[in-house]
Amino acid sequence: MKISIKKGNVAEQKTPCLVWGVFSGKYKEEQLAQINQHVGEAFARAIGSKELTGRKGETLLLHGCAQASAERILLVGLGKESDFTLHSLRQVTCSVVKLLVEKQLGSFALALQEFPVKKSDLGQRVQAITEGLFLADYRYERYLQKEKPGRPALLGKIDLLISSEENAAEAKAAVAVAESISAGVCFARDLVNAPGNLKTPEFLAMEAVAMAEKNGVKARLMDRRELQRQGFGALLGVAQGSVQDPFLIVLEYNGGAETDQPIALVGKGVTFDSGGISLKPSEKMDEMKMDMGGAAAVLGTMRAAAQMKLPINLVAIVPAVENMPSGAAIRPGDILTSLSGQTIEVLNTDAEGRLILADALAYVGRFEPRVVIDLATLTGACIIALGNHAAALLGNHDGLARQLLRAGERSGERLWQLPLWSEYVEQIKSDFADVKNTGGRAAGTITAAAFLQQFADKYRWAHLDIAGMAWAEQGKAGQPKGGTGFGVRVLIEYLREEAK
Ligand code: BES
Ligand code: MN
Ligand code: ZN
Repeated sequence: MKISIKKGNVAEQKTPCLVWGVFSGKYKEEQLAQINQHVGEAFARAIGSKELTGRKGETLLLHGCAQASAERILLVGLGKESDFTLHSLRQVTCSVVKLLVEKQLGSFALALQEFPVKKSDLGQRVQAITEGLFLADYRYERYLQKEKPGRPALLGKIDLLISSEENAAEAKAAVAVAESISAGVCFARDLVNAPGNLKTPEFLAMEAVAMAEKNGVKARLMDRRELQRQGFGALLGVAQGSVQDPFLIVLEYNGGAETDQPIALVGKGVTFDSGGISLKPSEKMDEMKMDMGGAAAVLGTMRAAAQMKLPINLVAIVPAVENMPSGAAIRPGDILTSLSGQTIEVLNTDAEGRLILADALAYVGRFEPRVVIDLATLTGACIIALGNHAAALLGNHDGLARQLLRAGERSGERLWQLPLWSEYVEQIKSDFADVKNTGGRAAGTITAAAFLQQFADKYRWAHLDIAGMAWAEQGKAGQPKGGTGFGVRVLIEYLREEAK
């Protein structure tokens, strides 16, 4: 896909298709005049017959618009003008792409950035649109051998039309930003979509190293022997049931001053979660190849941040393991000694994410981070609480939580905070060890976070449970079935603000 910023009169665009927006409700005179100028009667008739009301995502493709140079005009509903946000703009762009590529129209001109979004500048609108273009153009076809009939087109040449040359530089910079972010998201999606037989912990480590080398990021891997030497007892406990070697992936990006304390990102990297001896039911177990969605988000964010040359220092830690049942696997009742020295009673081997994160969170303290954010597909309970519309946010610092919530709203990757009161810690007290790895059925997402908190006590910390967000069971515009890359956009939004 090639995106160009073009100054020009909308009516004079020679393009296979011109995309123009329509707000719902009362049509403003000027809006009507603008559209009528190009499509004349056709528009009036479409409104008259209620074929176009302006509802968000609604579309009408018109041919033979005499006054316009475009071969076609696609009118797209933007919803109510007062409700129009950057996120709606991104979503609307995704619907436009879905419709046009299905009609084999991969090249078009878009004028949606000229529509008003409250409290936004042109750069932000162009960024939202460009993200929409890239996210909707994504597909995972690595293992499709046969050409499927009716396959949608890929995007070709896209012109973003702006009214004044003055804004061209701002718009171009926004396209570049969105390209970096989207590349990070798509990298994360590819990782999540990769099947478990290919995507071993070693594969994840190699992908991380390759990404780091291409983007000027420092990479280091710790293998089983090194992890044993250093005492990563909780991580190794999870890994011991699998024939696949575990790895701790450590990445460092230094875009800030040498003395700046880094921001640390930690991502759960369970390449396949069978549950271990506490085996999961077989229905939908295939989806558990996505249990490294946190790792994917962290790696995608590192890639985007480095490509954008953000002026900050970042550390990324990914504990990568496979959770399998076998004669060598940990059993319920086993007690592990974690890197922090605290002992953990394993009551359920399917609560493995918190075990590997316990050691990763203890380890990351060595970098003296000013903030630590972990992302993990940690609990099924999170899906019960929030469904597939927001990630749960918990942590030990209110300011950090508020910043992340705002970044979530702005990026369209929503977070919702749950409490982490000390009362919840009671549920993870063990009779035989310092803590146990399950807290019963009540408040499963919170007790998982309460467990992590025991290992994240030396710094400001936030935890995102992305169990409901890392995988899309059903495809929609801008998001085919499968890995979502959730987390990259909200993290980059947060990091850009921190870098200011
Ligand atoms: N990876 C799962 C959580 C999960 C479930 C993510 C569904 C995405 C979709 C995690 O390792 C897990 O199995 N958690 C258990 C914890 C329980 C045993 C305390 C759960 O949520 O059932
Ligand atoms: Mn599990
Ligand atoms: Zn898991």
